Amino acid sequence: MAAMDVFLDRLDPDMCVVTAAADGERAGCLVGFSSQCSIRPVRYAVWISDVNRTFRVARSADVLAVHLLARGQRETAELFGGLSGDDADKFRRVRWREAYGGAPVLEDAEAWFVGRVVARMPGGDHVGFVLEPVEWGGRAKTADGPLLRLADARTIRPGHPVD
Ligand SMILES: Cc1cc2nc3c(=O)[nH]c(=O)nc-3n(C[C@H](O)[C@H](O)[C@H](O)COP(=O)(O)O)c2cc1C
Repeated sequence: MAAMDVFLDRLDPDMCVVTAAADGERAGCLVGFSSQCSIRPVRYAVWISDVNRTFRVARSADVLAVHLLARGQRETAELFGGLSGDDADKFRRVRWREAYGGAPVLEDAEAWFVGRVVARMPGGDHVGFVLEPVEWGGRAKTADGPLLRLADARTIRPGHPVD
């Protein structure tokens, strides 16, 4: 086991689904690398792999939508994390609508926001998108129980090859 795995294996972040629309295309993928990164102004960063189709759409999008899922929404996690938009139209299988700036918002998400992209930064094989919220919604407390976390999604095989 690599030394860093001892640290990384202890992490169990909430998972999110990040969606984007640009140039008539829609995309979205399951994301474990995300966190709030500023208090005033409130900003949130998501990290998207540069091999994912979602990255190819997100890099020309002005806004991205970020969604939290309930633990019971494993199917949605499998759809967005286990399939690539290169092979399947994920949006045919979920309820969604266009929100601010054309961002596709998943209607069954526990909580979501649309954020304006204020910075993009290289992180390695993932690119960070720093987002300033412009629209948001969802339930304050999950009706279905806890949110879906990495421990719930670990067995999903990423739909897009990692390299
Ligand atoms: C548990 C788990 C965590 C993931 N975390 C990320 C992530 O933080 N960033 C990312 O870009 N992809 C992440 N992925 C991979 C993408 O969700 C996956 O490859 C997806 O199928 C890409 O779809 P796309 O090609 O339509 O963009 C994760 C996948 C899983 C199963």
